[in-house]
Amino acid sequence: MKMYAPVVLAAGKGTRMRSTLPKVLHQLAGLPLMAHVLNTLDDIPHTASFAPLLARLTSAKPLAVVGYGADEVERVFGERCYYTLQEPQLGTGHAVMATRSAIDALVPLPEIVLVCYGDTPLISSDVLARLLVEHVERKATVTFLTANTEQPSDFGRVVRDAAGQAREIVEMKRATREQKLIKEVNSGVYCFEREWLWSALETLPKNLVGEYYLTDLVGIASARGRTVATVTGSFDETVGINDRVQLAEAEQVMRRRILERLMYAGVTIIDPATTYIDAQVEIGADSVILPGTMITGKTRIGSFCRIGPVSTIDNSVLGDGCLVRNSALEGATLEEGVQVGPFSHLRPGAHLARNVRMGNFGEVKNSYIGPNTDMHHFSYVGDATVGEHVNIGAGSITCNYDGVRKNRTTIGDEASIGSDTMLVAPVTVGEHATTGAGAVVTRDVPPWSIVAGVPARILSMKERPTGSQGEDEKKE
Ligand code: UD1
Ligand code: CA
Repeated sequence: MKMYAPVVLAAGKGTRMRSTLPKVLHQLAGLPLMAHVLNTLDDIPHTASFAPLLARLTSAKPLAVVGYGADEVERVFGERCYYTLQEPQLGTGHAVMATRSAIDALVPLPEIVLVCYGDTPLISSDVLARLLVEHVERKATVTFLTANTEQPSDFGRVVRDAAGQAREIVEMKRATREQKLIKEVNSGVYCFEREWLWSALETLPKNLVGEYYLTDLVGIASARGRTVATVTGSFDETVGINDRVQLAEAEQVMRRRILERLMYAGVTIIDPATTYIDAQVEIGADSVILPGTMITGKTRIGSFCRIGPVSTIDNSVLGDGCLVRNSALEGATLEEGVQVGPFSHLRPGAHLARNVRMGNFGEVKNSYIGPNTDMHHFSYVGDATVGEHVNIGAGSITCNYDGVRKNRTTIGDEASIGSDTMLVAPVTVGEHATTGAGAVVTRDVPPWSIVAGVPARILSMKERPTGSQGEDEKKE
């Protein structure tokens, strides 16, 4: 089995971004630019286009060339790739020179070096697979990806001879007036025969500003009679992110792609123009996403859910059949059949068990709410454990903060919390207990009791249905 070594160039500062953050760490659809490139590289062997090479070619772990903000980049991607430091950064050719010893140390020794740029996150794994197949089948020295566009702007131009053979890539700054009119551009992905690559890099000329252009290798290979092959992909995939206008353009393309993937998988998206869904989000079939909704991070949503309008859901997990209207969820877990909103806020650690109904203007943080519990109006539940079939009356609040520390509230099964009850934590309300409207509960409430007042006192005990005593003992 032969091997190819994927290389991602990510050492540049990205001057045109005007940012202190290294360019490849800027976010696109909720992931850093380079994460998209690494995902794409991972997917190559799983594409249909790669089939002819499956038994013959395998990938090494990607090698990232880092420089500006190297520590930050390495911290973000950790074990996902190897790293080579390029210092100073003297151009894309110089960046590949920096990979030589790391690649030559790999076992088995890769025959092909696949170079891509960390700032072109829209390239698909399918087109990279096609590039590898073309490279192997043509026994080429260099194979590179091109695209056709009516707006070649600052891309490198692909110069072909009369026979249609690619002869060189001319960078925009060095292009003649006629060359600037060329509509076929260099997408910035290349396969090189490894041994030839090292020898050719030694002869790579320095340009006027002291940089080495990787693109000059095409002209060098061609002049030496080597086979230069090309694959043409769609221009949409080629967008290289050099500034924030291009970042926004790429964001649109990426978001459209994500929405289309979800729609083809059975998710209804009523208005793609106002729906923003991050790359890592998963949504089950027959769920409906209403306008004005933003679903981000590692959110997972089940089937038959209805989300929106105007909701934000971040890093949350929702079971099947949930309903979320005009609400904001972050770090929340909803089991199946939960209803939230309109106008509620679920904060990290909120866990709503199945069929919980949480209505208008509610807030839950770091709390478990048991199955079938209702909390319909204006309530705050923080640092609490709430049983099942509890009713939390309008305006009830867990007073979890005493000015120094956060304290827990526990509410037993089937308890009924009267409107406007203040539960001054730490406090426990026993099962089947009832608090009267406006109660300020400062001490534990025994099971089956009725309390009221400020501070709340026991008014009476409820009559337990026969047989329930035994049940209680079992639970304790
Ligand atoms: C490059 C190509 C151009 C192509 C375009 C496609 C060259 C000379 N030109 O231009 O033909 O059409 O991409 O998007 O390659 N980098 C390093 N070290 C360096 C310089 C750059 O690692 O010393 C990295 C950058 O971080 C970036 C990538 O290489 O991720 C590309 O560099 P950039 O300066 O953006 O090249 P372009 O001008 O876009
Ligand atoms: Ca670029």
